[in-house]
Amino acid sequence: MKKILVTGANKGIGLGIVTRLLRSCPDTFVYLGCRDAEKGYSAIEPLAKECPDWAERLCVLEIDVADQNSTELAASKVREYHSADDSLLYAIVNNAGIARSDAGVAPIIEVNTFGPNRVFEEFVNLIDPKSGRIVNVTSASGPNYLSHCDEYVREKLTSQNVSWDEIANLVESFLNEYEDASADEKERLYSHVYGFSKACTNALTMYLAKSHSNLIINSCTPGFIETDLTQPYVVERGMTPKEMGMKTPIEGAASSIHLLIEENIGSGFYFGSDCVRSPLDRYRSPGDPPYQGD
Ligand SMILES: NC(=O)c1ccc[n+]([C@@H]2O[C@H](COP(=O)([O-])OP(=O)(O)OC[C@H]3O[C@@H](n4cnc5c(N)ncnc54)[C@H](OP(=O)(O)O)[C@@H]3O)[C@@H](O)[C@H]2O)c1
Repeated sequence: MKKILVTGANKGIGLGIVTRLLRSCPDTFVYLGCRDAEKGYSAIEPLAKECPDWAERLCVLEIDVADQNSTELAASKVREYHSADDSLLYAIVNNAGIARSDAGVAPIIEVNTFGPNRVFEEFVNLIDPKSGRIVNVTSASGPNYLSHCDEYVREKLTSQNVSWDEIANLVESFLNEYEDASADEKERLYSHVYGFSKACTNALTMYLAKSHSNLIINSCTPGFIETDLTQPYVVERGMTPKEMGMKTPIEGAASSIHLLIEENIGSGFYFGSDCVRSPLDRYRSPGDPPYQGD
């Protein structure tokens, strides 16, 4: 069985990824990652009703990706489970993400950028070194952000040679700028932080792929999907999700599933919701030709 951990999987796109794996990939075992175990158990109830046999292919795993202790504890549990059959993880989908926080910009970067890096560091020794994969669920907001931002930031976050220290330094500058900003400026930075955090995670993907060339490490956008994360836009616009062009979480799982199972996809790349390689610093619409750059 291919063992796959999906973080933030108790709802939305994460749950869509888990559901598609259970329905279409019978050779998979899924760790349904959630920061609140109760929510995880509630999420698996409908799955158990859809197919009772799936219970054998599912395990709820408590993991708060913004919390070092929680992530370490989750890794030690997986290590313990796997020591019984001497198996390793086939893949991790870093799906957990947030778009807003009452506490300013820092928690958004903590979950969206530091989260995937923390999970990677804690789980890397549990991933199959021969065929292991990482999928970072980012967003088209990343390329959109880079298409408008400062030249220096764009250059760093699109460089093949970017290091984690450089990404962390850019984060520190962003946080300092926010700290010192006027109220208006804070509002502007807050509106950009989600895109910035996802651009950083696309750069992290490149860095990890280069430093771990034995693994297949890519990122993707799920598309514009009807979930709790996008619900505020629906309310704001007064339109239905369908009128706004939103797809379902099951449809939003397509790009992650592609990066989990397809062969010859390369490593260190960012993919659009149509599963086609896309540039890091400008939006590529689904259906447009693939990005062929470095
Ligand atoms: N929906 C879209 O249109 C869209 C577009 C582009 C990218 N994305 C990305 O897709 C991913 C999934 O988003 P979604 O739309 O499915 O949102 P969602 O329905 O709000 O689900 C987010 C999931 O992440 C979990 N989460 C939040 N903070 C966490 C933490 N610190 N540790 C562990 N889990 C945490 C949530 O858990 P709780 O239930 O406990 O809060 C939930 O399970 C995110 O990375 C998002 O940025 C979404």
